[in-house]
Amino acid sequence: MRTQVAIVGAGPSGLILGQLLAKAGIDNVILEAQTPEYVLGRIRAGVLEQVAVDLLDEAGVGARMHAEGLPHGGFTLLLDGVRHRIDLAGLTGGREVMVYGQTELTRDLMQARAAAGLTTVYEAKAVSVHGFDGTQPRLRYTKDGITQELACDFIAGCDGFHGVCRASVPTGAIRNFERAYPIGWLGLLSDTPPVADELIYARHERGFALCSMRSKTRSRYYLQCALTEKVEQWSDQRFWDELRLRLDPQAAEALVTGPSLEKSIAPLRSFVAEPMRFGRLFLAGDAAHIVPPTGAKGLNLAASDVRYLSRALIEFYAGSAAGIDSYSERCLRRVWKAERFSWWMTTLLHNFPDADPFDQRVRQAELDYVVHSVAGRTTLAENYVGLPFDDD
Ligand code: APR
Ligand code: PHB
Repeated sequence: MRTQVAIVGAGPSGLILGQLLAKAGIDNVILEAQTPEYVLGRIRAGVLEQVAVDLLDEAGVGARMHAEGLPHGGFTLLLDGVRHRIDLAGLTGGREVMVYGQTELTRDLMQARAAAGLTTVYEAKAVSVHGFDGTQPRLRYTKDGITQELACDFIAGCDGFHGVCRASVPTGAIRNFERAYPIGWLGLLSDTPPVADELIYARHERGFALCSMRSKTRSRYYLQCALTEKVEQWSDQRFWDELRLRLDPQAAEALVTGPSLEKSIAPLRSFVAEPMRFGRLFLAGDAAHIVPPTGAKGLNLAASDVRYLSRALIEFYAGSAAGIDSYSERCLRRVWKAERFSWWMTTLLHNFPDADPFDQRVRQAELDYVVHSVAGRTTLAENYVGLPFDDD
């Protein structure tokens, strides 16, 4: 088999990239290790920046998102029991975010890909990448026990943090930057109405909590927990009781509880690999970087990378290598700003077991400054809704 761009991974990065390339008449094939059901079963983030919404429209997959997604013009910071509304729209000249689950977005992308007749090989096992330092890269994989080869012009490594693409780069050619946090997030999904119309990010002495949603009838809640905790230790009842303790009386009273549809613990991590291009291999999304979820940037960064990558490849086929040559540098400028923001929000809103009393007071002072200064609130808001692209 031969294609122009071989994409490894059918998560949001790979699927959005495939759609943008196909729109521009560039042939692509996706190799995905898992089944479609498995990919759709992963519960992940749910907040899209305006620029990500625009990109999904450009890719032709925005219809259901606009019909069913919830535009949010603000959120609440609940700091030790006191509410502060961050008026995103008012502080950023009308910019908003869209609350729409990654699962739904992935479903829309899969349907659009099938409708466009594009090839996705699910359950492609033992994927390996070859020849990306030359002009004729190839991928090898097995499907139903038979070894196959896919020849291409370019490989897009959209295969997530544990994927094969980044792991195939010689160690001397790549530099990793990493920060592990000694805490995790315990998440619970339930078919209950959200506790409020907007998201609530709560800082509390018992630990951080987040009240988010997927729709008017489905809620997503998170509790900061210790990394040593096991999800089995958390009955639904214990989760709801602990959440109530971290909220203010208004939210605690309004909270509607119900059986969990899903419950899981995720560690918090910051990670960046540099560069994001190795000859004809490009990394995009979680394959190149991870952010802690506090700033809701993971999915948005994936969209931003593939926006740059699709434009670069379209330019290449039109006769200019300028876009692919600057891909890594331009992505990383935006990536590092989102890394900084996610690290900052994480640091400010969580209780860290290793924080000394001085750290704690400085964090309180910083939060006090952020919510009481227009400049502070604007910094938070403009990063949360998403920074502009350098080519806008
Ligand atoms: N071969 C083929 N496919 C692979 C391989 C492999 N060796 N390794 C991983 N994959 C697939 C995974 O099964 C997954 O479907 O690559 C896909 C990567 O998808 P994601 O992990 O969702 O990464 P990405 O598309 O970059 O999306 C980033 O997802 O993890 C969230 O917070 C993150 O919201 C952000 C978004
Ligand atoms: C979510 O709804 O899953 C979510 C929302 C906002 C975040 C992180 C996760 O900052």
